[in-house]
Amino acid sequence: MFRIGVLVSGGGTNLQAIIDRIEDGYLGNCEITSVVSSKEGVFALERAKKHGIKAVCMPRKAYADTNEYSVALANHFETEKVDLIVLAGFLTVLSEEFIKKFENKIINVHPSLIPSFCGKGFYGLVPHQEALKYGVKVTGATVHFVNGEVDGGKIILQKAVYVQEGDTPEVLQARVMKEAEHIILPEAIKILSKS
Ligand code: GRF
Repeated sequence: MFRIGVLVSGGGTNLQAIIDRIEDGYLGNCEITSVVSSKEGVFALERAKKHGIKAVCMPRKAYADTNEYSVALANHFETEKVDLIVLAGFLTVLSEEFIKKFENKIINVHPSLIPSFCGKGFYGLVPHQEALKYGVKVTGATVHFVNGEVDGGKIILQKAVYVQEGDTPEVLQARVMKEAEHIILPEAIKILSKS
């Protein structure tokens, strides 16, 4: 089995997309060994529990700094012997040491076509607000490896989504999630797990 650890901070719809594709057999040789949240009480943890997946809360604020937090996460994922770490709406920065330790084993899903609307501060609704402000007609999502630069690692997959007349950031965000993020994240995992 290809062992996946998932890091979350919120609702967990991307986590759900992975769970669904494991359960329907598309990711037949994959298992999620644990879901770790940087925030307490987030719905992503409920989704994990509902599907019998180990749900762990490691609040970022319980640790002194990024380094201490990253060491705790690294210990957790080493114990779990993960083959891949998926950042699925994970809003916390990881240390360089963590990134080096799991080189080419950490992926992230970002809600724009990198290199547009990405980098520091481009999370949540911001990429969509900026896409609408700029007036692009096409946006989308990107799955990429995580390196030391925010949203700067090697691209694995991208999918385009059309902007529509009258879109609000919220409407565009929902479309990008449904039509792009939730599709290419399992696809990227399939490529990396060779399932
Ligand atoms: C997604 O837009 C993802 O691209 C971004 O954070 C959001 C998380 O959503 N990194 P969810 O928690 O997976 O529903």
